[in-house]
Amino acid sequence: MTLTRRSFLTGSILAGGSLLAGAVIWRPTSTGQSTQLQIPELIDARNQGQSIALTAQAGRTSFFPKRDSVTLGYNGNYLGPTLRVHRGDDVEMTVTNSLGEDTSVHWHGLLIPGELDGGPHQTIRPGSTWRPVLPIRQPAATLWYHSHVHGRTAEQVYAGLAGLLIVADEDEKALGLPSEYGVDDLPLILQDRQFEGGALVVPQGMMATMHGRRGDTLMVNGTINPVARVPRRLVRLRLVNGSNARDYDLAFADDRSFHWIASEGGLLEKPVELQSLRLSPGERAEILVDFSDGRPATLETGPDNNVSMMMRMMTGVASLGGVGREAVVKFEAQGREALAVKVPEKLSTHEQVDASKAVRRRRFTMNMGMGGMMGGGAGMGGMMRGGMGMLAINGRAFDMQRVDEEARLGDIEIWEVSGEMMAHPFHIHGVHFEVLSRNGSAPGIRDQGLRDTVVVQEPAELLVKFSQPAVTAPFMYHCHILEHEDNGMMGQFVVS
Ligand code: C2O
Ligand code: CU
Ligand code: CU
Repeated sequence: MTLTRRSFLTGSILAGGSLLAGAVIWRPTSTGQSTQLQIPELIDARNQGQSIALTAQAGRTSFFPKRDSVTLGYNGNYLGPTLRVHRGDDVEMTVTNSLGEDTSVHWHGLLIPGELDGGPHQTIRPGSTWRPVLPIRQPAATLWYHSHVHGRTAEQVYAGLAGLLIVADEDEKALGLPSEYGVDDLPLILQDRQFEGGALVVPQGMMATMHGRRGDTLMVNGTINPVARVPRRLVRLRLVNGSNARDYDLAFADDRSFHWIASEGGLLEKPVELQSLRLSPGERAEILVDFSDGRPATLETGPDNNVSMMMRMMTGVASLGGVGREAVVKFEAQGREALAVKVPEKLSTHEQVDASKAVRRRRFTMNMGMGGMMGGGAGMGGMMRGGMGMLAINGRAFDMQRVDEEARLGDIEIWEVSGEMMAHPFHIHGVHFEVLSRNGSAPGIRDQGLRDTVVVQEPAELLVKFSQPAVTAPFMYHCHILEHEDNGMMGQFVVS
């Protein structure tokens, strides 16, 4: 395999945390051979008697030929099966931990009570099994599941503990959207990873903590340089940003437009034609792409510019994880052109949550130490507490023993959220919300729809409705840069 030398500086930051001394990072050239996109196995709860078994396990994965790495997966070596559940059903999950350490499995985006949520309070000890019965009561959506164990989420997800969770329902089925899994309905879990000589490495050190682990190699569903064969018709892509920290700025190389049809919470009211789409960690989007012209198409991303001023000043590095545009996945359209399947004009109707019914306003600032100090915020206090306590929300680093907020079941509130130093994907468990405003202005086109995660820096107002109880176990809210979450940028709330 051909390897090229990467920027010494970037490599050392990612690998070591020391700015001066560091390993030389190697990466495969982007002209490397394409590999067929792996599609995770589909497990439909209705074919399993509403019972799905998952085992978190260690294994070895060859991301590059003849080089294997220790990885984690569910029922396999890396990532997990795609789980399909149906609205109205109760699904029993049997989650066994065969790792040598604690884990937990969080159903990201599922509207279920706190004790079923799989956050840090539902730890599964090595050798034991957790059996939550999940009531599926929400509209069709692309969700995901991943480790959420206290303090080790980032490392476990980086190693592979994540998978897709699809909610299906009758309304969505009636639309006739492409839904042949793995054929014209493709899951695309986008991740970046760092490799040395073909083996997966886990970046450590302060820079990895402050900016999150990013890598110089992109992969989709665990496949590097993937190519997907698709039929010559309309195809649905379920995009999930499963990276620890990296932002994607997605567009097709030939600038073809596509239709965005679903946000984190499910179908939009109407399709939105776009030519590019940003996706931050934890965010998802469903899009429809027309491949009927039969031409090959490449979905690309721009460089990840979500780098704090501190990082820029200290290193002169303006972006992480790539320079210029890079291929994420290539598509090869095959077969005969199918009858033009039309993009539906209407997709769904949402109940309109009335912002004037909001009973409370809460403010959250995601702190990054230095920013807090410069802005007179609470970052310094966090730093004084030592270590990585500089990552916090409202000046307080996450504490398992402290409930930060209390909300009432059925209430509507406005949460005003901002982030210091860089953009942070803010995620709330157990709710769907809408973006009401950004920096005092109307929200952008990509802010529409129901969400559970949204990237913010300047203050954004979120209209939150609490529809799920969290009494015996709280819900989390946090930055979905997993290293931020693990190191304090998280809080918890009860709903009763
Ligand atoms: Cu996807 Cu609290 O996480
Ligand atoms: Cu979540
Ligand atoms: Cu963050």
